[in-house]
Amino acid sequence: MDAVQAIVLVGGEGTRLRPLTYRTPKPMVPIVGVPFLVRTMERLHEAGILDVVFAAGYMPQQITDYFGDGSQFGMRITYAIEETPLGTAGALKNVAEHIRGPFFVFNGDILTSLDLRAMMRYHEEKGGVGTLHLIEVEDPSPFGCVVNDAEGAISAFIEKPPAGTAPCNDINAGTYLLEREVLDAIPPGRPVSIERETFPQLIASGKRLYAYRTRDYWIDLGRPEQYLAAHRDVLSGAMPLIVEPGLTGDGAAAIDRNAIVEPVHVDAGVVIDPTATVGPNAVLGRGCRVGAKAIVRGSVLWDDVEIGSGALVEESILASGVRVGAGAKIGAGSVIGHGVRIKNGAQIEPSSRIGGQTAGASE
Ligand code: GDD
Ligand code: MG
Repeated sequence: MDAVQAIVLVGGEGTRLRPLTYRTPKPMVPIVGVPFLVRTMERLHEAGILDVVFAAGYMPQQITDYFGDGSQFGMRITYAIEETPLGTAGALKNVAEHIRGPFFVFNGDILTSLDLRAMMRYHEEKGGVGTLHLIEVEDPSPFGCVVNDAEGAISAFIEKPPAGTAPCNDINAGTYLLEREVLDAIPPGRPVSIERETFPQLIASGKRLYAYRTRDYWIDLGRPEQYLAAHRDVLSGAMPLIVEPGLTGDGAAAIDRNAIVEPVHVDAGVVIDPTATVGPNAVLGRGCRVGAKAIVRGSVLWDDVEIGSGALVEESILASGVRVGAGAKIGAGSVIGHGVRIKNGAQIEPSSRIGGQTAGASE
């Protein structure tokens, strides 16, 4: 199965991550300084899957600018841009001409340590038309619930079951390995959901879909709380990725350790006043500046963010170019969009969302 291709679904609007996604499409949202989609590409590369189709639609330019034809990643990337969203199966049908044999499908917003080669072996052993990666969660209601038996045969797929009604705790983890014939089951020319239409139909028509259940690290980055949780997990080492625990990053050498409560990751050009307190669990992008006696903890700052003296930022996400005035307080769970200026002494309520499509607002 060495010629397996991959389709990455990156067409969603990322509504639950607004205002971040007004200016940055979800796959380009940084995880510890690197666009999140790069992590998926690294896993594909590791597994020898080098022929990849991006099914995009929302703000595709930033994706194409960054990844180009894929050659700098040692891969070949083809783009299919949807003028109107075709849904998660319609997007696959739309790129059918590029697909020659079995292919992986990735939801573009998943961070996981799933071993793709092992999943390919399992798929071959089982011999179904598709294999779905499943993860067990406490509450399946925000996900697709997938009923499967001891042999892994899938008997039902229930997308977003109302709370308390899910028949099991195994959920669709957003990675599929499908035989090409699955594309024949998708009607052309209209939006189709693979979760609500295609999978249930395949099951009803007696086609065999198998569950590949693992206990890998797994997180859907679609919501701010999960985005912050993913960073905590990367910094603590729970997600086996890139950074070592401690004070890390290209900017680490220039930082006065008295200001740091580990783990903290700082990119190049970060300046932290020695009397500030940064961390635990803080990620500061390129060129961020933190003033005297300011406190930044449990937060992710994208590039070029400035925190004024005596300001407090807790459990929040600040997009690039945000300015937090002296003495201002950003309540936990807030998300501040690109270029927003928070006035000196402002008190931002917990869980605030500030910044619109035309970012740069003042508060
Ligand atoms: N190209 C394209 N076109 N991509 C799309 C479209 C579309 O019309 N709609 C959604 N996508 C992409 C999104 O960008 C995302 O990468 C992926 O498809 C899944 O969409 P989400 O909007 O993130 O769905 P979800 O998180 O509510 O649910 C899905 O993921 C869960 C796991 O995280 C479902 O697949 C669930 O069954 C699953 O449990
Ligand atoms: Mg999602």
